[in-house]
Amino acid sequence: MIELKEKIADSIVYFLKDNGIDFKRQDILVQFKKPEKLDFGDIAFPVFRFAKDFRKPPVEIAGMVKDFFESNPLDEIEKIEVINGYVNFHISPEWMFNQLVSNLNSKGDNFYKQDVLKDKTFVVEFSSPNIAKPFSIGHLRSTVIGNFLRNLLKALGANVIGINHIGDWGTQFGKLIVAFRLWGNEEELEKDPVKYMLNLYVRFHKEAEENPELEDKAREAFLRLEKGEEEERNLWEKFRSLSLKEFEKTYKRLNVHFDKVLGEAFYSDKIDRVIKILEEKKLLEESENALVVKLDDYNMPPCLIKKSDGATLYATRDIAAAIYRKETFNFDKMLYVVGSEQKLHFRQFIKVLELAGFEWAKNMEHIDFGLYRFKDGKMSTRKGKVVLLEEVLDEAVKRIRDIMEEKNPDLTKEERENVAEVLGTGAIIFNDLKNDRIKDVQFSWDEVLNFEGESGPYIAYSYVRCNGILRNAESVKESENYKATHDSEISLIKKLFEFKEIMLIAYNNRKSHFIANYLLDLTKSFTTFYHNCRVIGESDDISSFRKMLVKLTMSTLKAGAEILGMRLPDRM
Ligand code: ARG
Repeated sequence: MIELKEKIADSIVYFLKDNGIDFKRQDILVQFKKPEKLDFGDIAFPVFRFAKDFRKPPVEIAGMVKDFFESNPLDEIEKIEVINGYVNFHISPEWMFNQLVSNLNSKGDNFYKQDVLKDKTFVVEFSSPNIAKPFSIGHLRSTVIGNFLRNLLKALGANVIGINHIGDWGTQFGKLIVAFRLWGNEEELEKDPVKYMLNLYVRFHKEAEENPELEDKAREAFLRLEKGEEEERNLWEKFRSLSLKEFEKTYKRLNVHFDKVLGEAFYSDKIDRVIKILEEKKLLEESENALVVKLDDYNMPPCLIKKSDGATLYATRDIAAAIYRKETFNFDKMLYVVGSEQKLHFRQFIKVLELAGFEWAKNMEHIDFGLYRFKDGKMSTRKGKVVLLEEVLDEAVKRIRDIMEEKNPDLTKEERENVAEVLGTGAIIFNDLKNDRIKDVQFSWDEVLNFEGESGPYIAYSYVRCNGILRNAESVKESENYKATHDSEISLIKKLFEFKEIMLIAYNNRKSHFIANYLLDLTKSFTTFYHNCRVIGESDDISSFRKMLVKLTMSTLKAGAEILGMRLPDRM
């Protein structure tokens, strides 16, 4: 589509030049619009701004453009219409179909890959749960949004480094160490580590209210940990590895991969350098017993760098991490996928990097997102405030299993288990990614699992249906010849053709809902087509053509699901 738009823009540049007007391709490209209605064609070009140059009303100018294209026709354009001051181009569905087919034939499963980001390096930091704490819904959001971005950037040809910035450092580990020494037990810890650690942590806070000395002890323990004292270090390492093992299970279920797992602790020996740099730039000031960088001029509270007892802080580790990543990966862009509640934190430390003279700090983006709101309230009450991801996934899988038992009793038990796992996790992923990430997610089980609604299972169901149609049409010869006889075939082709452009829109906005909504639209388009058009039992050329449409739909659904990070079942 991009290439075609460029071609049309070049023709327009040529036309304008003929009339003594100088314009660049890029300036034309940005003016192209999508017509309001499908009947109005595929690309609309408004000519109002040329009224002065031509000293003619826009309709007339649009007519001239149309005439120009009619004397210098492009194969890809089927028809040109003038509507008021717009030139509307109708792209030939046959040309689109041929493009789609040749792309699929030559590239197979990679048919949707593009190279617009070739030679660009992106660091995507995502997930980043905290050790010794359960994986929360907030971390789910970061995980699925980040995984989506990693997949999308890769599909656009970028070199991507996905980093899990584990929260494995900070004063809370002093607390945990103290609590474990006082009340902990190795055997209990091994049984259900994260839960056990959480309980220790909760107990610490409760007892510290009565006995403030505990807080001092915890601070001391963390300082010893920062100094690398063996006993503290060993305990910490145990907490860390047990937690990571549990997170690993979740990542496996969600089909998420990282290129690097580098926790906050990794930067503990890189902090001194940060402090030196900030000192040299005369940015550090003492304030309330801490070293800070004042940000009054930017309407922000000071960024805390070091506490009076020498303990390092979250922001300092972020500054060190950014410098390390720039030096190691030389990224063109770095994306941080972290909830909106940390907006200020990101603005602060990015500003500090800028003030310290790191030009590249402007290439760092906070990809923020909203919260989950549980409509039916069922998930939030039982275990207090924190909703655990594992529980949500298990619940989704269980509910799907129940539905399947009813709807599809002929699957074997094992098949059903597998399908339920794939559909259940996919339902949660899709439900998250179909929202504009900035907004809160209104979570309702009915919506998440609705097989006919805007859901992951609905996408999976359509995919499985395509698969079934292809299986039944095994005897139909495959053909690459265009043979549309029904409007719904043309609409489907146009939808299919949009996919690569939607990927670019999703990239430009760094938002997944463009892809998710596209898949829902494609599914609807496909349903209309299938409702109107039989694949089997028509003349050979029609059947073959329709079989190809099913194949294209199936590949596109799969590609879209892959980018979203959703697995699809072959049968269900
Ligand atoms: N572990 C942090 C939390 O759960 C998120 C880390 C975000 N990333 C960052 N570079 N600060 O709140």
